[in-house]
Amino acid sequence: MTADLSLIRSSFAAVQPHGSQVTAYFYDHLFANHPDVRPLFAAHLDEQRDRLWAALGALVANLENTDTLIGMLQNLGRRHAGYGVLAEHYPAVGASLIATLRHYAGDAWTPAVEESWAAVYGVISSTMVAAGDVVSG
Ligand code: HEM
Repeated sequence: MTADLSLIRSSFAAVQPHGSQVTAYFYDHLFANHPDVRPLFAAHLDEQRDRLWAALGALVANLENTDTLIGMLQNLGRRHAGYGVLAEHYPAVGASLIATLRHYAGDAWTPAVEESWAAVYGVISSTMVAAGDVVSG
């Protein structure tokens, strides 16, 4: 992966103090740009918002613990296949995730940071999609 993990951690840390605004921005961005994914989510997004960001924090904390990371991503990927998430939905979520991080990271955001997040999200999504495929056959 062509990612500088220290840049991932520092940019994620720069975004964290913005709290619940961050996830609100992410879902607004996602649903504005990809209204087709809205029906996949339950009507109550409040809990879901926290869980997605908590999961992202756990992934960021385990970027160097490869076995733990892969196991987490495989479990997430299998569950997402069950929610009806398709491979084609992953780039949409990745674009909104990066737009959200860019919006809140301020000066911590640079081209190298963006490149690192794109590489990390590529690994996240390909691992989740592959695990989901195993189950859906
Ligand atoms: C970085 C990648 C992602 C992470 C970390 C993530 C995280 C999570 C977490 C933690 C949950 C809570 C339930 C569970 O743990 O299984 C969840 C649910 C869900 N995610 Fe994701 N997700 C990601 C990508 C996606 C993508 C690409 C989609 C496609 C639109 C998606 C759609 C959903 C849906 C529909 C649910 C269920 C919501 C509900 O119960 O209403 N997620 N996600």
